[in-house]
Amino acid sequence: MGIMFSDDLKTNIVSIDLQHKELFRITNELLDACRQGKGTEFVSNVIDFLEKYVKTHFATEEKYMQDYNYTEYNFHKIQHEIFMRKVDDLKNEFYKNGPSLSFTVTVSSTIVNWLSNHIRNVDGELAKFLRKQSNFKE
Ligand SMILES: [Fe+2]
Repeated sequence: MGIMFSDDLKTNIVSIDLQHKELFRITNELLDACRQGKGTEFVSNVIDFLEKYVKTHFATEEKYMQDYNYTEYNFHKIQHEIFMRKVDDLKNEFYKNGPSLSFTVTVSSTIVNWLSNHIRNVDGELAKFLRKQSNFKE
């Protein structure tokens, strides 16, 4: 049982959707590894991935917000900062304590919550705003 990139998660902004799909892909790989009893072996890949991913992905969205003077920029940016701090905490915990089953569960639930709440709601609002701008170009 993986997680699906369903239509209601699409922003219909190609670069953002492609990046969101990347996050789905690694999350499904982690869930697969967990099912095979290899979750704790795989989790370091996820931590490495997340560290790079949040930087490029959030920069992509924030560039759009700045280019089009998005009214909810501050709110949205704060949500990104909170998630980046979470990723940082996870990374520190990993380096301190190493992989464990409970850590792996925390990592996967942190990402799954993010996917279903942030992408659906916060990114959804941003996409709606962008598509309403008459001069919007991807
Ligand atoms: Fe976002």
